[in-house]
Amino acid sequence: MIRAFQTSDLEQVYALGNLLTPNFSKTNSLHDLENNPFTKVLVYEKEGTIIGFLMYTELDETVDILHLFVKEEYRRQKIASNLLDTLISNLKESVCYLTLEVRRGNESAIALYQKFGLEIIHIRKNYYENEDAYLMGRRFSN
Ligand SMILES: CC(C)(COP(=O)(O)OP(=O)(O)OC[C@H]1O[C@@H](n2cnc3c(N)ncnc32)[C@H](O)[C@@H]1OP(=O)(O)O)[C@@H](O)C(=O)NCCC(=O)NCCS
Repeated sequence: MIRAFQTSDLEQVYALGNLLTPNFSKTNSLHDLENNPFTKVLVYEKEGTIIGFLMYTELDETVDILHLFVKEEYRRQKIASNLLDTLISNLKESVCYLTLEVRRGNESAIALYQKFGLEIIHIRKNYYENEDAYLMGRRFSN
C-alpha cells in the first residue's frame, strides 16, 4: 500500500534513509513534515512495515525528487515504479517539470528513471564528492 507519510512513520523512514545515506536523519528533518507545504514523503507499506519511500519537494511548477529507496530484499518487484507512478499520476496541473539528481554510476536508478520518461539534461561535475551527478528531468505540457 502506498500512502502519505504520517508522524508515526518517522523512525522507520529514518532507518531506511540511513541505509541510503549515513547522515540521512541528520540532514533531513521529518519532524515537521505535516506542517511543511513543500516537502512530502510517500511510503510503501507492506504488512505494517515500511519497505520503501519517496521524498520530494513540490513547488508551483516543479517537483524535485530528493530520495527514493527500496529495502534491498524487496527490490525488482516494481515498488519504486509504483511509488513513481503514484507521484506522477497525482501531480498538480500546475507542475511542468519533474527533476532529480542521481549519481552517474547508479545505473539501476538511471534505468528506472528513464522508464518514466526522465532524460539526462545536465552533468553536475563532482556533485557527490568524487562522483558526478546527472540532473534528470521530464517536462509535462499542460
Ligand atoms: C533504484 C531503486 C529505488 C529501484 O527500486 P526497485 O523497487 O527495485 O525498482 P523497480 O522494481 O520498480 O524497477 C523498475 C525498473 O528499473 C530498472 N532497474 C531497477 N533496478 C535495477 C537494477 N538493479 N539493475 C538494472 N535495472 C534496474 C529496471 O529497468 C526495472 O525494470 P525491470 O525489473 O522490469 O527490468 C532501488 O534499487 C534502491 O533503493 N536503490 C538504492 C537507492 C537508490 O539508488 N536510490 C535512487 C537514488 S536517486
